[in-house]
Amino acid sequence: MSSDKALFPYSILKSPILTAKGVSKSYDGRQILNDVKFTIHDVVRPGQREGQLLSILGPSGAGKTTLLRILCGLEKPDSGSVLVGTDQQPVVAGRVGVVAQHSPLLEHRRALGNMLFAASGNPELQDSADEEEQAMQLLKSFGIEDQADKFPAKLSGGQRQRLAIAQQIIAGNDVIFLDEPFKGLDLVAKRKVGDMIIETSNRTEKTTIIVVTHDIYEAVRISDMIWLMGLQDPSTGDPAHVASIVAQINLMDIISWRDDRHRLPAYLDMIEHIADRFPALAGLGFKDPE
Ligand SMILES: Nc1ncnc2c1ncn2[C@@H]1O[C@H](COP(=O)(O)OP(=O)(O)OP(=O)(O)O)[C@@H](O)[C@H]1O
Ligand SMILES: [Mg+2]
Repeated sequence: MSSDKALFPYSILKSPILTAKGVSKSYDGRQILNDVKFTIHDVVRPGQREGQLLSILGPSGAGKTTLLRILCGLEKPDSGSVLVGTDQQPVVAGRVGVVAQHSPLLEHRRALGNMLFAASGNPELQDSADEEEQAMQLLKSFGIEDQADKFPAKLSGGQRQRLAIAQQIIAGNDVIFLDEPFKGLDLVAKRKVGDMIIETSNRTEKTTIIVVTHDIYEAVRISDMIWLMGLQDPSTGDPAHVASIVAQINLMDIISWRDDRHRLPAYLDMIEHIADRFPALAGLGFKDPE
């Protein structure tokens, strides 16, 4: 790959915050992931407070959820390792936040109660008054403060998802994974969810959101960096049913950090670029763009 300087003309790469090292996984003798490796760096754009937003983009059934569960420490790889934080310690469950596709909420607690439960695990929140104030502020910034007294069963799918993300933030997680946040949504709803994810990633400089998705349009619209997951035979590189990361696309300083990025010519060019190469996501001779 080219040097960091060439890749990031305006942004500064700092220390790694998430590293996957040769992650492989089989289920029942069938290999799903082979040698998945990548490093996510803390990125700073001088003069701005922005977290980062990354996507892992891959075809349905490729093994995205399997990878996400391993990256979060919810599942053990057969080989390889995952390191998190600036201290690059092996991941353990609970170290990073996860919003699964159908996020489990505490159905017997109201929305505010769900927030307070998540807040109780955050050592930075001093007392219950602190927790409640933060919880209400977050519900407000996610546009669901008027739902605070409702039980999860009374919330819409989008409201549940926002509540699940707000919970991860109040729990104090800097790194949050979202599994398929756009699945089953129409275009307008996707836009809203995408904008909310961008806003969430911009809350603090430390925040890192990693979205796992098969939606090229939203991945390109919201991400700073995309990792493409493709299917390849581990020994020959030929098409197969074993997934690994086949390319990394940097959108920083091209599309991301700009308003209305989906109206930029560069946005459509990038969609075309990936779509042209999309057969390669299924393993047809995709080469690393470097
Ligand atoms: N616990 C498990 N036991 C056995 N096989 C599993 C298990 N979890 C996943 N698989 C298999 O691994 C493969 C990848 O599944 P995974 O859910 O990770 O894919 P995905 O890319 O997230 O799919 P989708 O696009 O449908 O969300 C599938 O063939 C699935 O059947
Ligand atoms: Mg999945």
